[in-house]
Amino acid sequence: MSRPEWLQNPWKQNPWFESVAVAQRRAQKRLPAPVYGALVAGSERGQTIADNQAAFARLGLLPHVAGHHADRTLTRTVLGHEVSLPVLISPTGVQAVHPDGEVAVARAANNRGTLMGLSNFASKSVEEVVEACPRTFFQMYWTGDRDVMVQRMQRAQKAGAVGLIATLDWSFSMGRDWGSPEIPEKVDLKTMVRMAPKVVTKPRWLYQFGRTGQVPDLTAPNLAAPGETTGPTFFGAYYEWMTTPPPSWDDVAWMRQTWGEISGTPFLLKGVARVDDAKRAVAAGVDAISVSNHGGNNLDGTPAAIRLLHPIAGAVGDQVEVLMDGGVRRGSDVVKALALGARAVLIGRAYLWGLAANGQAGVENVLDVLRGGIDSALLGLGLSSIDELTPETLLVPDDFHVS
Ligand SMILES: Cc1cc2nc3c(=O)[nH]c(=O)nc-3n(C[C@H](O)[C@H](O)[C@H](O)COP(=O)(O)O)c2cc1C
Repeated sequence: MSRPEWLQNPWKQNPWFESVAVAQRRAQKRLPAPVYGALVAGSERGQTIADNQAAFARLGLLPHVAGHHADRTLTRTVLGHEVSLPVLISPTGVQAVHPDGEVAVARAANNRGTLMGLSNFASKSVEEVVEACPRTFFQMYWTGDRDVMVQRMQRAQKAGAVGLIATLDWSFSMGRDWGSPEIPEKVDLKTMVRMAPKVVTKPRWLYQFGRTGQVPDLTAPNLAAPGETTGPTFFGAYYEWMTTPPPSWDDVAWMRQTWGEISGTPFLLKGVARVDDAKRAVAAGVDAISVSNHGGNNLDGTPAAIRLLHPIAGAVGDQVEVLMDGGVRRGSDVVKALALGARAVLIGRAYLWGLAANGQAGVENVLDVLRGGIDSALLGLGLSSIDELTPETLLVPDDFHVS
C-alpha cells in the first residue's frame, strides 16, 4: 500500500506542519506584528479567548487498549451538504494575511471536501470565492438598512452562495489590556513608509505580496454599492456597522424569511450563547445555530463556547442543526464538541495560522491535521464513526456545563 508523501516521515523539516500550534508559531514568525496581532484579537482582559481553548483541556478521554475498529467514518451531512469531515470554515476577514486571502481558503475547503464561510468583511469577492468553492455560505452582520441588506443577499445568491450566516454577536468593545494592533485606513505610500520597520523584517510575507504586485488593500468588496467595483475601506464598513441600530428578534425573523425568499437555501444564526436565545432562534425560523462567542472577540467574560454547547444542544438540537465554534485547535477538540451535541464545528484562527504559514496548502494542512486527530481519537476510543460519539464518551467535570 502506498503512503501519502507527507507520511513518509512527517517529522522531517518541511513546509508541512504537524499541529495547529506549530502553524501558529510559523505565522507569528512570518507576519508583520500588527497583522499577527489582528488575528490573535480577543477583547478586554482576554478571559474568553483564553477559556475557549482551556475548557477543551478540562474534558478527558478514556481509551480502550484493544477491540478497535480498522475503518472509521468521519463524513456527515451538515446544512444539507455531505462533508468529508465535521469541520467547516468559519467566516473571517483575512485582508493582509496572504495575497490569495479567502480564495486560497476556499480552494482548500473545496479540495478537502468541506464548506466555506465567507465574511462580508472579506478581502475577496463572493463571486471569486464561490468559483473556488461552490459550497460557500455568505456571512452578514446586521449593517446598513434593509434595502442595502437585501441587495447584498441578492448579490450573494446570484454569485451562487448556498446559504447565509447571520452573525449578530458583536458589542463594539474597543480596548484590550495588551493594546490593539494598528490597522491603517488604507495602505498608501505614506502608510507603507511609516509601517516599513514592522514589515521589512518579514521577507516572506513581503515577497508573497510583492510577487502579485499588490499591497493589502484593506477594503471590503462584498459591501460595494450596486454598480461600484470597489467596496468601502474596512473602517468605512465598520462605521456603517456601528451606526446601524442593533437588530431585534423580529429583524432576525425578517432576515431569515428574506433570505428564504431570495435563495431558498439554509440560514445559520452564529453567536448563540444562551438557551433562551437558542429557543428564540428556533422561533425565528433558522435552520441552524452556531454556539459561539465570536472566538473571544465579543463580550469578554462569556464562558467558553464548548461549555455552553451541551445545554443548548439538549434544548433545541432536535429542531435545528447545532454547530459550535471557538477554541478548536485539534481533532480531539472536534470529537469533544461532537460528543456534547454539535453536528459539526467551525474553525477560525486554526486555518488563519495555516494560511499565514503556507497559503492554500497550509489551510489544507490544518484540515488534514484535524482529520488525523479526529480519526486517531475515534481509534483510541474504540469507535467506528463520529455518529457514535455521546456525552458518555467523555470525562466531564461536574461544573463544566453552563446555561
Ligand atoms: C481575525 C478574525 C476575524 C473574524 N472575522 C469574522 C467575521 O468577519 N465574521 C464572523 O462571523 N466572524 C468572524 N470571526 C469569528 C470567527 O468566525 C469564529 O467565530 C472564531 O474565530 C472561532 O474561534 P477560533 O478562532 O478560536 O476558532 C473572526 C475571527 C477572527 C480571529
